[in-house]
Amino acid sequence: MQILITGNMGYVGPVVVRHLRRRWPDAKLIGYDTGYFADCLTSAEGLPETLLDTQLFGDVRDLPPALLDGVDAVVHLAAISNDPMGSRYEAATNEINARASIRLAALAHQAGVRAFVFASSCSIYGFAEGGPRREGDTLNPLTAYARSKVAVEESLHAMQPQAMTVTCLRFATACGMSPRLRLDLVLNDFVAGALASQEISVLSDGSPWRPLIEVRDMARAIEWAIARDVEHGGRVLSVNVGSDAWNLQVRDIAQAVARAVPGTRVSVNSAAPPDRRSYRVDFGLYRDLAPQHQPRIGLAEAVQALRDGLGAIDFADPGYRTGRCIRLTVLDQLRDRAALGSDLRRLVPAAEERVAA
Ligand SMILES: NC(=O)c1ccc[n+]([C@@H]2O[C@H](COP(=O)([O-])OP(=O)(O)OC[C@H]3O[C@@H](n4cnc5c(N)ncnc54)[C@H](O)[C@@H]3O)[C@@H](O)[C@H]2O)c1
Repeated sequence: MQILITGNMGYVGPVVVRHLRRRWPDAKLIGYDTGYFADCLTSAEGLPETLLDTQLFGDVRDLPPALLDGVDAVVHLAAISNDPMGSRYEAATNEINARASIRLAALAHQAGVRAFVFASSCSIYGFAEGGPRREGDTLNPLTAYARSKVAVEESLHAMQPQAMTVTCLRFATACGMSPRLRLDLVLNDFVAGALASQEISVLSDGSPWRPLIEVRDMARAIEWAIARDVEHGGRVLSVNVGSDAWNLQVRDIAQAVARAVPGTRVSVNSAAPPDRRSYRVDFGLYRDLAPQHQPRIGLAEAVQALRDGLGAIDFADPGYRTGRCIRLTVLDQLRDRAALGSDLRRLVPAAEERVAA
């Protein structure tokens, strides 16, 4: 089996690659990434890309069709992947997240790929009052990032593939340790604050609902989507991926982290305007379709893995909210160094950029 993983050099990608390598030791795994965050390692264990057979550097907007020859499954992670980046780089977000993804799915279909797995997001529910959202409910994307995910899902449902399964995994907000950790994610941010300054500062009033999923459980869902047959969900499927137990309000996430890291204070910004993003999600469809691949990792285990991982790299930076684990900071720094254009295309090849940095 050959699996192409785009965006493998981000936060989720290395954990997915490690899981797929364990699950299918003989598979040929190919990574394709433009390498925005190649240097943002948070692991003492060396480059996660060594688990691949091949690492290719390139922009997904220019992905050569020949790369899909002989590929059985595509795991498409490459994206400008949060709201702050999407709002600063809106045109590029539309090009990369929407147009390039739709093109890639069409190329995969033409090349005879068997499974196309798209990393979508529960953030497409936006602000959703009145109970947990199911897949058929009205979407309410509030940001360029969320709108890009909706655009791809709509195109994938319209494409009517003949022999390829297409799975849009609407992931809850990710959390947990990774060889390229992000601290611009709610749980990870709180654990970093607790460790670096014994304080969790909640930027909102803490009331928004934010379902979570640990990265290792995301990897297990991707494994399921690669292998699923058409009887389990149909030819093109959108499914919420997470667990009902992890539908939490932000203030409860903060309190749980504070309990796990004794001595941590929690400050809530009660004067903050209400966060427009708040949604609870119904994960019943995923429970029915993938009983063997349900999320297994609980909050305590996720926090402990983060503490262990951050401890292993001697993390103690109270200024982490503007550091190299914040994706927007990294993109802005690449722009300042003239390594990227305003369209987020590389002006300097990734390898040269690293030598120059
Ligand atoms: N982290 C989450 O909370 C979460 C939740 C739901 C869905 N997702 C989705 O999962 C996927 C992976 O998320 P992540 O957290 O690992 O994101 P990330 O930002 O950490 O990694 C994305 C990777 O894509 C690469 N990339 C971006 N633009 C590219 C381009 N034009 N060409 C080639 N490579 C490009 C980047 O270099 C990076 O390595 C994304 O599609 C994201 O939208 C993430």
